[in-house]
Amino acid sequence: MSEAADRVIVALDFEEAASAFRLVDTLGTDARHYKVGLQLLTAEGPAVVRRLVEQGKRVFLDLKLHEIPNSVAGAVTAAGRLGVSMVTVHASAGSAVLRAAVEAARPFAGLQVLALTVITSLRDADLREIGVEGGVRDQVLRLAGLAVAAGCHGVVASPQEVALLREALPPGSLIVTPGTQLQGDGAHDHARVATPLEAVRDGASHVVIGRSIYRAADPLAAWRRACDEVAEGLGGGY
Ligand code: C5P
Repeated sequence: MSEAADRVIVALDFEEAASAFRLVDTLGTDARHYKVGLQLLTAEGPAVVRRLVEQGKRVFLDLKLHEIPNSVAGAVTAAGRLGVSMVTVHASAGSAVLRAAVEAARPFAGLQVLALTVITSLRDADLREIGVEGGVRDQVLRLAGLAVAAGCHGVVASPQEVALLREALPPGSLIVTPGTQLQGDGAHDHARVATPLEAVRDGASHVVIGRSIYRAADPLAAWRRACDEVAEGLGGGY
């Protein structure tokens, strides 16, 4: 259970710290991995992250950085000082940016740089609109290749690309997968969804789950179900 629990990252997509910490309290000490994104960070500032770290939680700080290398390096350093475990950079920012992020993370033991490939709400037609003709799968593979070559610890990708990536990436690469929902939940705004079980069976190292947990009638039960699914899907040993 404990190994599976660490692979379930609960997204704290809230407007206020109070709601976020109510969920953290509800899930209890076994739930150790949380994602803080732009909404909560912008609303409440880095104090939220410090408080989670003080409580012994691992924090995935989803900054989705896309900036010049110097600015990205500065943000990654700031994230490292906060004590977070994972930080995200858009792979489409290019190799120089990815390398700058990896270099900036180096002094912080345990800080992992994840590259975002293609956000899960995008389909082939959306990519064409911005001038990318190859389609989602090609683009995900291309960007994941850049990320690994730049020294990133892993990638963020939708469940639909996990199997492809697990084959393409070096062993031990992290594949963190949003766009997973517990069975029975209607698709929210993810264009490419799967259950945590499917994602982990395909090779995801971690799943990110928000609404399926925090909007559940019983969030703790939903979190436990997610952990059970991840435990069942493990076996591959990623
Ligand atoms: O859908 P859910 O509430 O589980 O979303 C959890 C996280 O997944 C969000 O914080 C967001 O960063 C990510 N997400 C995504 N693409 C979407 C919707 C959510 O990457 N279309």
